[in-house]
Amino acid sequence: MNNTLIVYYSLFQNTKNLALEIAKQTGGTIRELIPDKNYSFDYNTAAKEVRSEISRGFCPKLISGNESLDDYQTIFIGTPNWFKTLAPPVMSFLKQHDFTGKTIIPFCTHGGGGFGEIENDIAKECSESIILPGIEVNGTAASEAVTYWLETIGNEL
Ligand SMILES: Cc1cc2nc3c(=O)[nH]c(=O)nc-3n(C[C@H](O)[C@H](O)[C@H](O)COP(=O)(O)O)c2cc1C
Repeated sequence: MNNTLIVYYSLFQNTKNLALEIAKQTGGTIRELIPDKNYSFDYNTAAKEVRSEISRGFCPKLISGNESLDDYQTIFIGTPNWFKTLAPPVMSFLKQHDFTGKTIIPFCTHGGGGFGEIENDIAKECSESIILPGIEVNGTAASEAVTYWLETIGNEL
């Protein structure tokens, strides 16, 4: 059985597309995180909503994606870079599960800021996990870049 899970949150599809590419290349199961209230598709409105949530440490309720992780050993965790950190729905997911002994691999899409604090923030919530080097993509991922990255961590998967 393939015990790999690819979990992600995406508002504008970039992170979703990267998640789909990782799932295609690893044969893992894909899981989208859906918060009970979605963010605005208007950038300025979304920015206000997100800033407020991040500053309060608010973690939205997930209406999908929060199911058990018992069947999975390797978990890719994907998020857009929102103000240098994780999208709040991904923080909700991290807070609600125990990742002890699992292998965690971060991935993100961004507009030029790379991972920012995302890898550190994931590592803090997964302190008893093995964390492998992730991938960060500005906008849309090329499948070759994903292939190359998966090869570099392949021995540890
Ligand atoms: C509220 C908000 C905050 C953002 N903050 C950053 C940032 O700090 N650094 C950065 O490089 N990109 C930032 N971006 C750009 C997104 O990370 C980028 O467009 C990403 O690919 C969007 O992923 P998605 O299509 O999966 O939603 C921000 C976008 C939004 C909507």
